[in-house]
Amino acid sequence: MSILVTGGAGFIGSNFILDWIEHQEELVINIDKLTYAGNKENLTTITNNSHYKFIHGDIGNSDFIQNLMKKYQPRAIVHFAAESHVDRSIADPSAFINTNIVGTFSLLETVRAFWQNSDEGYRTAFRFLHISTDEVYGSLDASAPAFCETNPFAPNSPYSASKAASDHLVRAYYHTYGLPVITTHCSNNYGPYQFPEKLIPLIIHNALSGKSLPIYGDGKQIRDWLYVKDHCTALRCVLTSGRVGETYNIGGWNERTNIDVVMTLCDLLAQLKPRKDGKPYTGQMTFVKDRPGHDQRYALNAAKIESELGWKPQETFETGIYKTLCWYLENPNWVAHVSTGSYRHWIDQHYQA
Ligand code: NAD
Ligand code: DAU
Repeated sequence: MSILVTGGAGFIGSNFILDWIEHQEELVINIDKLTYAGNKENLTTITNNSHYKFIHGDIGNSDFIQNLMKKYQPRAIVHFAAESHVDRSIADPSAFINTNIVGTFSLLETVRAFWQNSDEGYRTAFRFLHISTDEVYGSLDASAPAFCETNPFAPNSPYSASKAASDHLVRAYYHTYGLPVITTHCSNNYGPYQFPEKLIPLIIHNALSGKSLPIYGDGKQIRDWLYVKDHCTALRCVLTSGRVGETYNIGGWNERTNIDVVMTLCDLLAQLKPRKDGKPYTGQMTFVKDRPGHDQRYALNAAKIESELGWKPQETFETGIYKTLCWYLENPNWVAHVSTGSYRHWIDQHYQA
């Protein structure tokens, strides 16, 4: 028995694999193209584990995927692989269309062909778990109720549009071909191994490097924050007990404005690693040009997964952000290794104005 994970060298995928190895005794095969966001270093602790196998490859390469399906006959695919950073999708959407839409389509087609030619036992047990985002639902007003699974899609960025397109394809493969799919929509994840282009690790990295802490617009945009390990527990739960053809929201019940997030990090940093000059980190906060089409608010209603599958997040934002900051402070080499070359190029280009 095995499961196949796509994009397992990225932030959530690597946390998922580490969590899987800790809790399951089943082979996990990690397929990753190793883009700028993929990092095998996230998984060094399990490189020699007999339940783990890394294979370098692209979800869009159908021969490659077909061979893997034949060789391992995985009972499930957990599909994380994607281009994931909204600002990059605004700067250049093409990779988002190629990977998130065309790549997911190619993966679905290859998997469908294998699944349709398999015996009934395999077909019934198989699951295609597609990892999507709350961003497909669009943006909420301050007083609007949180997104439910029944909310219509209204994506506003090339990233969220590409994710919405892939969600529609996944849904269509269930309704048209009967492929046993489940889709999850999670909110903003944070925790260990997050690439420092995203808000929380960027702020930590910049604060410690004495750089400015860039806040888009007025900083009053709201996100719901989900500790990545809570997300991984939820995904294991969905894989075991989720109903085929359904979608599940996975949220942290932790709505915060961006400015609150940055201030919280500045306060915690002052306690755990005060600046040498004794001044507050908040002095590094800088308001910069807003993101075009910036979604004002995301909030997720996760009542369905809680009532149907019994999952609940274990971390509050306060406990999760403390653990996250401690991890970054204890792992300066991980950050140093990823913040070179193409990372520096992106930061220089994106924050130059
Ligand atoms: P990430 O950018 O950290 O990692 C993506 C991984 O996918 C990388 O390892 C990359 O090398 C790999 N990849 C990219 N293109 C590939 C291809 N063509 N073939 C094989 N591998 C490829 O992303 P993440 O933050 O870990 O997000 C994982 C998934 O969760 C994505 O689908 C994303 O849309 C979704 N999601 C993320 C968040 C979040 O807060 N990070 C929230 C909601 C949903
Ligand atoms: O909501 C789920 C989504 O969360 C995922 O689908 C995406 O893959 C993931 O990247 C994330 O998208 P966001 O755009 O919400 O995350 P990001 O960390 O880029 O930004 C969080 C908020 O902080 C957002 O309102 C923009 C703001 N921001 C971000 C950066 C990088 C800043 O104010 N300054 C910054 O420098």
